Amino acid sequence: GGVTTIDPGYKNTGSCVSGITFLDGEKGILRYRGYSIEELAEKADFLEVAYLLIFGDLPTSSELEKFHADIKKHAVVDDDVKKILDAFPKSAHPMGVLASLTSALTAFNPSSVNVDSEEEMYNAIVRILGKFPILVAWTMRKKMGLPLDYGSSSLGYVENILQMMFKRPDEDYKQNKILVNALDKLLILHADHEQNCSTSTVRIVGSSHAGLFASLSAGISALWGPLHGGANQAVLEMLEAIKADGGDTKKYMGKAKDKADPFRLMGFGHRVYKNFDPRARIIKVAADEVLGDLGVQDPILDIAKGLEKEALEDQYFVDRKLYPNVDFYSGIIYRAMGIPVEMFTVMFALGRLPGWIAQWREMRLRKEPIGRPRQVYIGENERAFKAASDR
Ligand code: CMC
Repeated sequence: GGVTTIDPGYKNTGSCVSGITFLDGEKGILRYRGYSIEELAEKADFLEVAYLLIFGDLPTSSELEKFHADIKKHAVVDDDVKKILDAFPKSAHPMGVLASLTSALTAFNPSSVNVDSEEEMYNAIVRILGKFPILVAWTMRKKMGLPLDYGSSSLGYVENILQMMFKRPDEDYKQNKILVNALDKLLILHADHEQNCSTSTVRIVGSSHAGLFASLSAGISALWGPLHGGANQAVLEMLEAIKADGGDTKKYMGKAKDKADPFRLMGFGHRVYKNFDPRARIIKVAADEVLGDLGVQDPILDIAKGLEKEALEDQYFVDRKLYPNVDFYSGIIYRAMGIPVEMFTVMFALGRLPGWIAQWREMRLRKEPIGRPRQVYIGENERAFKAASDR
């Protein structure tokens, strides 16, 4: 029989049981596998958190060492991937490039497609964890007109990402502890967020037993949109526009509240958090620290703080429980690190990668059925076909 009730946006539909991420939107609590996001952001590094999310427990030193060694074995991509990257115009948005290259990896790694056993899954997982940072770095280098390069296997996972992104030709890249810590923290804060739009996409594509890389590519496309991960780019563009407008935050608050105006205050509101997004709290403090440590003064940070203050005191935002979300301050840190604004959502994807993988693996291990929602049909009743001359 047909269904009689619908739930647009799946606002009240549970799609799975999951043991990965706990989220209490009323209280503003976020935990990965039981560990609070505050503690992980402070004490863990990104690779440990990736292991935790995917396999369920924090790794011992030898487990972490093996995991990292397996990833490093695969930290190379086929040379033809460079040709694909080269074929994109320089103006291409990095998220489109990243989704295409991630999907293209399937062609060069056919053994990662039909994976059923835990071992086959593991091999596909370490492959993509090795190759994805290369795609991210190359996407940025293409944008910046820098030659493509591989990192160094003697570096930590995050240090290597920074080197692959920023190293200039014929120059020794000096690791900057401030940048390493900032990126580690940002990636951890983005690493999972239960059944959000991109993660649900990865799970639903994966539920047809399409390969991991194809599922991730679909997740990247979902993340691209400004209502989801694309918000971090949109926030910075909004703050820039406010600055260019003489810092007139009132005007933009008015636009956000005007129902006739499609403008929304980017970086505000969340489907689940009806209280402060705990990630935003941590990132706001980190933004102050990182900019201070780097000696960067960015007037955009003051505009952001002013806008936040106004919104938190405004009846429209109070009534709708709209608080700053993870994307509100992250771009300010990325910019201080020297990452171009069009790359911000790519950085989100890099952080979310372990979460997507963990959710895909959980879905496959639980042998979940193919995702296939139903509908309520509201179209025409049966009609007789008319020849073109009779229409
Ligand atoms: N500015 C102005 N009004 C807003 C905003 C906003 N940013 N967000 C929600 N509202 C209003 C909305 O117009 C609606 O008002 P009313 O009840 O009068 O019709 C009410 O608040 C509820 O909003 P909704 O659109 O029904 O809520 P949702 O759960 O469908 O959407 C959201 C959640 C995140 C898409 C939305 O808040 C939004 O568009 N925010 C701006 C984009 C953004 O920052 N996205 C990042 C999300 S966090 C992490 C991530 O996924 O990247």
